[in-house]
Amino acid sequence: MKQDKKKRVTRIAALCLLGVFLGTVSAWNQVTSDNGSASVMASMEPAAGSALAGADIGGPFTLTDHNGNAVTELDFAGQYKLIYFGFTFCPEICPTALQEIDVTMKILGVMGKNVTPVFVTTDPERDTPEVMRDYVELFNPRMVGLTGTPEQIMAMQETYRVYAAKTDNPDFSEYMMNHSSYIYLMGPNDEPLTLFSDEDTPQTMAVEIKRVLQQS
Ligand code: NI
Repeated sequence: MKQDKKKRVTRIAALCLLGVFLGTVSAWNQVTSDNGSASVMASMEPAAGSALAGADIGGPFTLTDHNGNAVTELDFAGQYKLIYFGFTFCPEICPTALQEIDVTMKILGVMGKNVTPVFVTTDPERDTPEVMRDYVELFNPRMVGLTGTPEQIMAMQETYRVYAAKTDNPDFSEYMMNHSSYIYLMGPNDEPLTLFSDEDTPQTMAVEIKRVLQQS
């Protein structure tokens, strides 16, 4: 029974990830065709990530930051954001991604002064503002941790098409989560710009972010 459930969860996870992937591909295709100049797009191919311009990703949110303050997307107005979704109990994937964001910020240096790294929890039950504060401090002094009610987090995940679900892994005493792992570069008006994946290194992400910053 447990095994069946696990298999089903794995299958659902795989399907969801496929959905995210297809969504990205179709967003990319739409961008290329909407632009009407595929050859120009090809010659300006980004150094890393997939272009998200014009994709239906992101949107208004109301959450709580790691200092316990209520925040919305308007609190980030005028700032670029590097947003990652995960959970603080994550043994490996999340710490790796957040460390890569920190290295990316270090490569950007002063150029990144208008880029805010943001970590949104997919596990609001355990990731209280206090837990988030202690956690984001480990990675980058400017990183903002966001949590909220389960409903607020679910709404945020939906607008970013993030997949996350609890798993009961017998190797751990606490529950773990399967979740999609992407870094979203959002623009100063909260518009989606680039989607980075595990394939992208801090070096290539920094090149792409610099390219975007120089265009604006
Ligand atoms: Ni994780």
